[in-house]
Amino acid sequence: MQNVQQYIASNQDRFVSELMDMLRIPSISADSKYKADVARCAEFVKDSLLQAGATKAEICPTAGHPIVYGEKIIDASLPTVLVYGHYDVQPPDPLDLWHSPPFEPVIKDGKIYARGACDDKGQMFMHVKAFEAMEKNGALPCNIKFLIEGEEEVGSDHLGDFVKANKEKLKADVILISDTSMIANDVPSITVGLRGLSYVEVEVTGPNRDLHSGVYGGAVPNPIQVLAQMITAMKDENNHITIPGFYDDVVEISDAERTEMAKAPFSLEAYKSDLKIGDVMGEKGYTTNERTSIRPTFELNGIWGGYTGEGAKTVLPSKAFAKMSMRLVPNQSSEKITKLFADYFKSVAPASVKVEVRPHHGGEPVVTPTDSIAYQAASKAMETTFGKKPIPTREGGSIPIVALFERELGLKSVLFGFGLNSDDIHSPNEHYGVFNFMKGIETIPHFFANYAEMMKK
Ligand code: BES
Ligand code: MN
Ligand code: MN
Repeated sequence: MQNVQQYIASNQDRFVSELMDMLRIPSISADSKYKADVARCAEFVKDSLLQAGATKAEICPTAGHPIVYGEKIIDASLPTVLVYGHYDVQPPDPLDLWHSPPFEPVIKDGKIYARGACDDKGQMFMHVKAFEAMEKNGALPCNIKFLIEGEEEVGSDHLGDFVKANKEKLKADVILISDTSMIANDVPSITVGLRGLSYVEVEVTGPNRDLHSGVYGGAVPNPIQVLAQMITAMKDENNHITIPGFYDDVVEISDAERTEMAKAPFSLEAYKSDLKIGDVMGEKGYTTNERTSIRPTFELNGIWGGYTGEGAKTVLPSKAFAKMSMRLVPNQSSEKITKLFADYFKSVAPASVKVEVRPHHGGEPVVTPTDSIAYQAASKAMETTFGKKPIPTREGGSIPIVALFERELGLKSVLFGFGLNSDDIHSPNEHYGVFNFMKGIETIPHFFANYAEMMKK
């Protein structure tokens, strides 16, 4: 292990500069203009796996963006760790809020600024470099497989079919993923739960065409007004979601578990001042941490209609639109929730408008075990490198493929994230601490050593 750690320390500059090379590729999966860049990034990942010592690395085309698969099998009788990550990134908009261009990475105050720096190029690349460090020092203690996709940010549409069709290839004992956060750089944590997602788009139509708002206004349904009222009907005065049946399958957390959760360090004042909000807002009866982890939500992600250009236009629009999403917790099902939402949303519409609900992607919530060998191996690894035992936490984000891995491959995941919630993922000025990047690379080999050792017994 000493050789491995020495190798990591002496190669830090190269590791960072290689990550920066990958960050220069605008692999935006949501925007078809970047299709060639996404493909170029897949090549980059493949090449870096080969350079790190993979005996096999290949690009697997899909109907969408390619999947990169790589492996190093040292002995079929040893356990196998399957590393999952994604090389695609979110669109960088709004561009004018970035302090430096999103695909021209810079290091400032010990942080790498670029789209994807943390989510997930930086975190995924830690595994490539940790593998390289183990491999080049003869210290890889078990088999390793890599599954790095290019469609996570758009719902992993083609990964599910790939997994179903390649069960033998993906055979492993555990899945290791770094695509989540920890509490703070001096408060390590391991994520043990992620929320699911139901994402929908709605269209409300009033009159068949845009009208003069003076000639018709006051007598004809205005779809923007109607949409606003329908949205308001989705929550009550306690910010409780009013969709009938919405909470039916929600597993309530015991008081003992809530007390345990509340022990994780958290400052409401710091939270509010970081976000420059006068107060927090959410479901009555739950703390901020509970609202973003163990409780489901309903959020608006976008709303538009009518005239929004320069100056004024007195128009009574024909249509209004919104994108909205619900974060789900065990045992809610995204399909069922989408249907409950659609039925209720249509039911609150006045007869004067037409409503269409278009479901987008969804994903199921997950809870991962803390009593597994893999969790213990990860916990011990962090304890070694941070000097503190990590706290198990549940997080609010979603990685829909985790539930699918469990269902299709029968494999549990360890959510071994080294990011921080303050890294501004999906936002302007996304960044990742060089500390976090290096700490991840240092900690991962400990996980492998612990896991291989503990699996022998
Ligand atoms: N890495 C995130 C998920 C995440 C972030 C989990 C922080 C925990 C903490 C992932 O890339 C992501 O953004 N997922 C999407 C879901 C997807 C279906 C678009 C999300 O959570 O919105
Ligand atoms: Mn991610
Ligand atoms: Mn993301």
